[in-house]
Formats: sequence, C-alpha cells, structure tokens
Amino acid sequence: MLTYRAGILHVEGVPVPEIVAPIGTPAYIYSLDEITRRVRAYRNALPHALIAYAYKANAQSPVIRHLAQLGCGADVVSGEELRAALAAGVPPERIVFNGNAKLDEEIHLAVRVRVRSLNVDAREEIPRIARIAAQVRSRARITLRVNPGLDVHTHPHLRVGAPGSHFGIPPEDVLPAAREVVASPWLDLHGIHLHVGSQLLQLEELETVAREAARWVRTLRDAGFPVTEVDLGGGLGIPYDGAPGLDPMQVAERWRPYLDPLDVQVVVEPGRWLVGPAGILVLRVVQVKRAWGRTFVVVDGGMNVLLRPALYGARHRIWPVVQGDPEIRVDVVGPNCESADVLGRDYTLPPLSPGDLVAVLDVGAYGRSMANRYNLRPLPREAVLHLMSND
Ligand code: LLP
Repeated sequence: MLTYRAGILHVEGVPVPEIVAPIGTPAYIYSLDEITRRVRAYRNALPHALIAYAYKANAQSPVIRHLAQLGCGADVVSGEELRAALAAGVPPERIVFNGNAKLDEEIHLAVRVRVRSLNVDAREEIPRIARIAAQVRSRARITLRVNPGLDVHTHPHLRVGAPGSHFGIPPEDVLPAAREVVASPWLDLHGIHLHVGSQLLQLEELETVAREAARWVRTLRDAGFPVTEVDLGGGLGIPYDGAPGLDPMQVAERWRPYLDPLDVQVVVEPGRWLVGPAGILVLRVVQVKRAWGRTFVVVDGGMNVLLRPALYGARHRIWPVVQGDPEIRVDVVGPNCESADVLGRDYTLPPLSPGDLVAVLDVGAYGRSMANRYNLRPLPREAVLHLMSND
C-alpha cells in the first residue's frame, strides 16, 4: 500500500502531497483496496463465518459502505452505529448489537429492525429487552456475552474479559441468564459471545477464546439450552512496528479443532486487523523547536486527531513524506496544551522544516473514530483511495 517513488511517499501509487493538497492537514488517507485485500484474507481463513466488522474501529461512511459492499456485517454498540450500518446497506440479519449500556430507544430500534442478535452484556439487561420486545411485538434473538474471566496479554485498557471487568456476564451468571432468556416468550436464545481483549498478538491467547467458547457451548447444551451461534468477538492485533503480523489463517487453524465439532454458525467481529494498516495520518510540521538538548518537531495534530499514543502509550511508525538523510533524533509533539500530547519520542527522521509533511502509519483503526475537538481544533480531513474494483 505504501511506497516511496523518487523519494516521495505514495499510497497505492498516488503521491501523498497531491492527495492532501486540496484538503489540507491533519488528514487521514484510507486505501479501500487494502481493506479489500484484508477482508479477502479473513474470508479465506474463515469461509463460513460471518464477518461482522467492528464499527468502533472506523465508521467513516466510505469505509463502512465499502465493507458492506464486500459482504461484511456489522458489530455496532450504539443506536448511531446501528443507523450507520443500515444506511451503509448492511442487511439487519448481518448486524450484531453489542454494548454494555444499551438505551431503551436503542434496544427498541434493534428489535424493530430485527438485527441478527442483541448481545446481552448483563443479566439485568434481559428483562429490559423482553419488555421492549413485548411492546414492539417482535421476538428478539439473544446472544449471551460470556466473560470467561481470562486475563490476556495486552494493554490493561484493552483487556475486557478478565475477572473484575465490567464487561460480559460472569461465569456464575451464565446459566441463570440463559434460564431467564428462555423463560420469556419474546426472547430466543441464539448463541454465546466472547471478546476478551483487543490487540492480541499471541496465537495461544486467540486459541483460548475458541477453547472457552467451546466449553461454554457444551455447558449450555448439557443444561438443555440450544446454542446455534458462537461469536468470537474481535481482538486480532497488528504489529505497529512493521514486523510481520499474525495472519487470520493461523488463527483459523488454531480454532478449527474446537469449532468444527460444535456444528455452530461462527461470527467474528474484527476491527483493527481489517482497517488499521489501511490508513495513514498526514501531519504538517508547524515548527521545529530546540530545547533541553532535544529537538521537538511540532506538528499540526496530536491527541486531538490520534489519541492512541497518549491513551495507551502506543508507538506508531512516523515516516517523512519526502525522504532525506535520516540522521536526526527527534520527539514528535502535537499542538495541544498537555504534556501527554506527544506522538512519540526518539524517532529518527530527516531534517524537517515548517511546512514539511510526515505520515503516521497504521491509523486506520481507532484513529479518526477517537478524534476529538480538544482545544477547539477542527476534526481531521479525510481522503479515500479506491483504485481496484470490488469483484
Ligand atoms: N467486539 C467487541 C465486543 C469489542 O469490544 C471490540 C473492541 C471489537 C469487537 C473489535 O476489536 P478489534 O478487532 O478491533 O481488536 N481504542 C483501542 C481499542 C479498543 C477496542 C475495544 N473493543 C485502541 O485504539 O487500541
């Protein structure tokens, strides 16, 4: 997707300076072709699974329309995401509604349009959904989000299936929750859901998700509950340092021994893996400041346009848009009045001057979707490249 030609960074063969010239900076650039390639890789790995793309990663309309055209479903967590999925052309039977704080009106909408499943995060949600389904006079399909109490290796902010987490139904409540679902004439128990964390890079941990899911399917079936669907959530990580990453095929091979004997429909909710590497963020150097023996490259966007470094200590690669001799060690800092507004320290970049452009890599997921208007700066601009056909 990214190449240097004559020393200038190109996305899918188009020079970055030309892409940002009409729109200005900070600007996200997405390659829909890269998204296509990644969806195909996922689909090859899991040909029978429904890929319900996690909208929270990036719900910009060209991106979600493209994913809908490629046949992906949607994992949504708010009424607005649900509306966006419907507007993007995702059929309701490919939409799963997650979230731990569903509002009554959101449940109402999900039941009315007949989403594939409402993924219940807490026992307390069950009577609320049953009441609303009765009002709408439409049966709701329920998937129980099981919190297996698994501690996975990732940033603490991205760990959600561990003991003490406020997400999912704790193990001791799963059977009682299933009983409550089948007791309601308005609810159908459909399946179980597990999502234990994001940015998982170890195959063993991803394998554990399928092992736990299989265990829970058996537990529920042994207790007489029908389970026809298993939603394994998202979580497949990407290397932010350019190292070769995990391939969905490797994950699928680890999952097969657990899933094949179950005879269930599998749903997956990838976000980051599908869109993360398909986006870059282009920033312009405002000023280069020398102080305390360091060189600070001050750029026109920071934690307002890309929150990941400040929030998780994430380190994204930063490349010059025009190559030069890489000889200077610099800290790249944003424009916001916060010490945390540092994109990263100790990058090696060519000498930069005001007006020069730099590109932050692998920001297609959780970049624009977490951008904000801190210091009243405008939201970043966006450009989308789509050169290949969808066929
Ligand atoms: N399904 C559920 C229920 C989730 O909570 C998430 C992510 C996903 C799927 C998608 O996970 P993925 O495949 O993208 O790992 N803002 C953080 C990531 C937070 C992820 C929250 N849940 C970041 O920038 O790293």
